[in-house]
Amino acid sequence: MTYDVAVIGAGPGGYVAAIRMGQLGLKVTLIEEGELGGVCLNRGCIPTKALYSATKLIERAEDAKAMGIEFTAPAIDLPKLASWKDGVISTLVGGIASLLKANGVEVFQAEGRLDGAGRVALSTGETISAESIVLATGSSPIEIPGFSFSDPYIWSSDDALALTEIPQRLVVIGGGVIGLELATIYNRLGSAVTILEMMPEILPGIDLDRRTIATLKRSLKEQKITVRVNTAAKSIEETSEGTVVHTADGDAVAADRILLAVGRRPNSAGIGLETVEIEPDRRGFIPVDENLQTAAPGVYAIGDLVPGPMLAHKASHEGVLVAEAQRRTQDQQRRREGSDATEWIIPQAIFTDPEVASVGLSEKKAKEEGYDIIVGRFPYAALGKAQGMRETEGFFQVVADAKSKRLLGAQIIGAEASALIAEAALAVQNGLSLSAIADGIHAHPTLPEGLKEAAEAALGRAIHAVNR
Ligand code: NAI
Repeated sequence: MTYDVAVIGAGPGGYVAAIRMGQLGLKVTLIEEGELGGVCLNRGCIPTKALYSATKLIERAEDAKAMGIEFTAPAIDLPKLASWKDGVISTLVGGIASLLKANGVEVFQAEGRLDGAGRVALSTGETISAESIVLATGSSPIEIPGFSFSDPYIWSSDDALALTEIPQRLVVIGGGVIGLELATIYNRLGSAVTILEMMPEILPGIDLDRRTIATLKRSLKEQKITVRVNTAAKSIEETSEGTVVHTADGDAVAADRILLAVGRRPNSAGIGLETVEIEPDRRGFIPVDENLQTAAPGVYAIGDLVPGPMLAHKASHEGVLVAEAQRRTQDQQRRREGSDATEWIIPQAIFTDPEVASVGLSEKKAKEEGYDIIVGRFPYAALGKAQGMRETEGFFQVVADAKSKRLLGAQIIGAEASALIAEAALAVQNGLSLSAIADGIHAHPTLPEGLKEAAEAALGRAIHAVNR
């Protein structure tokens, strides 16, 4: 079987690459041993967001009391919630299958590994030949000494998302994105959640300003989620009173289940890299050039396998780039002039309560990079729409270059921050200035007005806040 391109892995990197290649008229095959959509769709982004929105209803129902509408206490039918979530996943998996078919992509359900230049060996015994090969095998959760996923008390994010029980006391090890998102969901379901984070602050890997983190921590506290920073988990012990997590500072935290969310590692082992002389770096990432090509000619890598944030939208973006690079290679075209210089800006959205989203530089990072900056902020509480929603926690923040007024970054913490960041991302990616947002007419009353007001505040002319 001979193809123009073989893509290994059907997550948001691989399946997007395959669809785009199909659109470009390439003969492409997609090799996936599990479900189409990969971790993001089946055991990551999508189930978490389904459960985030479902469990938000619990919180909203509680909140409705203050608005004069009272519900009785929610009854949670866990198997039904799990099957609704699974239904969301299967609808989307089905959608990907039809898109692949419509774009002429041939899918092999098998494990694929590199088998020398231009060849992929399948677990079914077949071999595929392809002019180019795209590696998109994603990442897996890591373990730490003393904590193994084979222990039934220790959950990976996959176990937590399987929704088999609501533990009374859930201890989350790792105050990163996964830990915080799942802590939010289980707290709403009724677990008493304690987060242990070894670094001095939660979300240490993300460029967020102190004020944003402080606002988030205050909200977590109000929700009765316990956050302990500077607290590394060291070991677990079964005692007569149940399971306890021992911390490096000598404390013991009782747990009915432990969610281990201490990071992910690229799935670069066991995919035959040695057969084409690709050497991953010490953390398992595969080095690539600006065309996403590895050290082996004709072999490309995208998504969580390559350095950069492990985010689905980054993987999908690289999927499109790698597809278009194939087309150029096939046409013997040169890379478009100037496109090497494009710096892609990757927004981030964290589904906690409130949501946190960011793009570009934080205030701190902008200063570190030597910019002379101006900053504008605007609180949700000053938005009519937010008041009407009873979603007054949080703020919008923009950071711009003082001289040119070019927007360098934005952070939003509050309701719908994940959606609201899109306008700022458009502006940062395209080098727009504050006035592009401040002067644009925003429908009233809506939440996006908050970004406009923050931009106005940076320019010293917010209408609904006192300018200082
Ligand atoms: P992470 O690297 O974001 O966070 C892991 C945390 O665990 C770190 O803060 C680390 O200091 C802490 N830690 C490590 N060992 C510890 C110990 N012994 N005791 C206490 N704390 C310890 O990794 P996470 O949350 O597992 O996420 C993996 C990847 O998935 C990340 O790159 C993340 O960006 C991505 N992701 C993104 C989402 C989003 O953007 N909404 C959602 C889910 C995942």
